[in-house]
Amino acid sequence: MKIVITKSYDEMSEKAFEVMKQVVLQKNDAVIGLATGTTPLGLYNLLIKACENKEISFKDIKTINLDEYKGIDKSNKNSYHYFMQQNLFKYVDINQKNIYIEKGNAECDLAECKRYNELLDKFPQDIQLLGIGSDGHIGFNEPGTKFDSLTHVVNLKKSTIKDNSRLFNKISEVPKQAYTQGIKNIMNAKKILIIANGKNKAKAVQKAICGPITEKVPASILQLHPDCTFILDEEAASLL
Ligand code: F6R
Repeated sequence: MKIVITKSYDEMSEKAFEVMKQVVLQKNDAVIGLATGTTPLGLYNLLIKACENKEISFKDIKTINLDEYKGIDKSNKNSYHYFMQQNLFKYVDINQKNIYIEKGNAECDLAECKRYNELLDKFPQDIQLLGIGSDGHIGFNEPGTKFDSLTHVVNLKKSTIKDNSRLFNKISEVPKQAYTQGIKNIMNAKKILIIANGKNKAKAVQKAICGPITEKVPASILQLHPDCTFILDEEAASLL
């Protein structure tokens, strides 16, 4: 595992951008696993700029997102589909057909999970970008999720609903369930890039990197990945 500690959020985003850029430059049709949340926004801005400057292109890139709220349509402003369009996809030259995210309003959970697992088998991620929850979750895999889990429906924990409610008008609007890639799907990625900033992530980062590998801390499994890089700001790294 490689650990890079940076002085600020901006430097964390720049270092993460360098890693992503290398993957895209080495393989113009790379499969990139993406995450939502506030942590990757700086990185997404840098990817947009690089695309505008013709430094990189998403023309043949495929993206596969980690997760999506269950029960909401992709046009819903709180969906992760919408988030990704607003914060990355609409500004880069990606082919909309190459964007994959779980269907929040799928009719059948089992069929949707099967479809997504088959997709991940067909297009394994060349790189998977991750953020980390303050409880150590990755994707929506909450503490206690089996390490051999595949795409599944999750009942979101109260603390995750509370963390995520900042993006909604009211906490009661936050969906109670979500689809997420499982931990096994994430671990199948050839390369993992995990980014974290801020004091509220320090404990989770410390447990993920230095603690025992346990299903109580989903991100601790990353210690076993052959090519995983943590890029942290000083606050997130403060307990290492
Ligand atoms: C989002 C996701 C989550 C977030 C995590 C951190 O697709 O999979 O695991 O990465 O909750 O979220 P932020 O970046 O908002 O702190």
